[in-house]
Amino acid sequence: MVMTNFLQKRKTVRDYKSNALDAVTLKEVRDILAQVEAQENSEVLNFAFFENGKIIADGLEGKAGYGGVMIHAPHYISLEVNSTDEAELVRTGYFLEKVNTALVEKDLGTCWITVDQVDDATKRNLFGEGGENVQYLIGFGIPQGKKLFSKETSTPRLTLDKFVFKNHFDTPATPEELEQLGLMDLFSSVRFAPSHMNSQPWRFLLNDAKVTLYMLRSDWDHRSLVDIGVIMYYVEEMLASMGNTAKWELIDEADKDGMKAVARITI
Ligand SMILES: Cc1cc2nc3c(=O)[nH]c(=O)nc-3n(C[C@H](O)[C@H](O)[C@H](O)COP(=O)(O)O)c2cc1C
Repeated sequence: MVMTNFLQKRKTVRDYKSNALDAVTLKEVRDILAQVEAQENSEVLNFAFFENGKIIADGLEGKAGYGGVMIHAPHYISLEVNSTDEAELVRTGYFLEKVNTALVEKDLGTCWITVDQVDDATKRNLFGEGGENVQYLIGFGIPQGKKLFSKETSTPRLTLDKFVFKNHFDTPATPEELEQLGLMDLFSSVRFAPSHMNSQPWRFLLNDAKVTLYMLRSDWDHRSLVDIGVIMYYVEEMLASMGNTAKWELIDEADKDGMKAVARITI
């Protein structure tokens, strides 16, 4: 996949055709979930597939969605996270976005839906035993009316000088420096990664061949850690498309200029 184009064009879809996807596509979605589950090798993350989306959408009406209105998709995937460990929250973002990307590659529209604010009784009723641990859903289906990659609804993003720095947080990396390091395409693309409320809590600090991912200490919460997992996934995918198989390592270091270090990768 050409990640650069993919990221710049992907958009959250909130209006879906109500009809169910055909059996072949649904089987492909199940296969994607099985593949990602096998790769993630985690006992605390569990996907579930809800084929009858109407039950889920009706049950969450007024409790989740966008601006108080539930997003009605024909199908949903839930991710149950049985831990509040920081690393698991990062993995939540990483693996759910991996699934999300695979669905978008099949020309499906998708939307993350946060349900961590929904009461436990509602979640157990909708998602079954352990349902109170479901914190996120991905709704998916055929986009209604407009094209999947429609241009007119793009959500603004931070410019590179606001989130990519060299050696110190008061020196934004220049376009020339990024070009020299071969990272211009990467950062120009990952800036389009999705985040809850489009909060974009990530900051990158370049130091020689190392890139350290930080988060504003003031943004340090469960939701932002999930966003961080999303962008970590895209950075790895972008590097892989450039022939670099480097992987992030989570780190625990003292804060720097009000920033909390989360992970480091060598490029
Ligand atoms: C972890 C996470 C949670 C999100 N939760 C919701 C949500 O509850 N409702 C919603 O409408 N969009 C949700 N979104 C989608 C974001 O609002 C959207 O990605 C962001 O505004 C950027 O817009 P775009 O995806 O169209 O580029 C979520 C995204 C992420 C990554």
